[in-house]
Amino acid sequence: MYINEQFGPAEIASWVNVDAATASRRIFSDEAIFQLEIERIFGNAWLYIGHESEIPAVGDFVTRLMGKDPVILVRVTENEIAVLLNSCPHRGAMLCQADAGNGKGLICPYHGWAFSNAGRLVATSTDDGLYADRVDFRTLDLRSAAKVSSYAGLIYATWNADAPSLDDYLGDIRWAIDLCFNRTPGGVEVLGAPHRWEMGSNWKIGPINFSGDGPHFTQLHGPIAKVTQGIEKPDLRAALQASNSISWGNGHNGVIQMTPEDSGIAFFGQDPDLIPLMEQTLQPDQLAVRKRILQAVNNVFPNHSWTHNPVSYTPGKPPVHFLAMRVWQPVAANRT
Ligand code: FES
Ligand SMILES: [Fe+2]
Repeated sequence: MYINEQFGPAEIASWVNVDAATASRRIFSDEAIFQLEIERIFGNAWLYIGHESEIPAVGDFVTRLMGKDPVILVRVTENEIAVLLNSCPHRGAMLCQADAGNGKGLICPYHGWAFSNAGRLVATSTDDGLYADRVDFRTLDLRSAAKVSSYAGLIYATWNADAPSLDDYLGDIRWAIDLCFNRTPGGVEVLGAPHRWEMGSNWKIGPINFSGDGPHFTQLHGPIAKVTQGIEKPDLRAALQASNSISWGNGHNGVIQMTPEDSGIAFFGQDPDLIPLMEQTLQPDQLAVRKRILQAVNNVFPNHSWTHNPVSYTPGKPPVHFLAMRVWQPVAANRT
């Protein structure tokens, strides 16, 4: 039986009861449900791959994952970015083992087939009559993502040729993306290579935290908030109770915690040099929220989150905001 025939729509609907605010634990632990998610969600949704500032020059590449598929994100020309399946069409060897680099193209380490950065097969070591005319080499380019697009420097790709445009897919969460990634004319730049951790839990745990689990903050992060932000637990609880849990539509969600309207605190933790740039860049409704942001977390469905938090790196010194992205890569039902 194919995995997508294993569960009927009624059974799938029974796993989450929106009215009762409950979900079956199976969605976090059942390997068959996990495989269904890999196929239906990660095989179809727009997935975050990387930031444009990670591949500024022609030939720059980074290797990433789309669900469980390894891919290469590469700048083909100044204006063209490709997302290629990191698997040789000859016998399936992984083409690129490096995390990042720059190259004119790809040569497979197994039998030496060569591909352009756009994924075209340009030379084979086995085209000397070995396959006679049984193989049409023109069909053996690297598999590319069906669509690749970016918003605010954030590059997403999908395997689904029928997917809506990235703008339509992101919809209203673009408003919140602007608050963090488009708040100045120059946007943001990603610093350094990704840090990678392995978690012994399902991939959805992270996105749910970044989508609406404000209440964990007081208990779990309360002690850290006291040390790094100078905020006492009761004040933190009050601020969280006044925070907004937002559904942006299309499965995208977030929590924006704001300072009280009458607090007189504006641009808490923001570098003073950035304030005139934000005033010049953001729309008036965005600026009104931006002024009062204490911390904000958001998640683009399914697995791309970011957190924007103030931290004081030196005790007694005012906090400064950091912006960090998370990509929750599914490994197994109980491993991310
Ligand atoms: S597997 Fe890549 S050239 Fe053979
Ligand atoms: Fe948290």
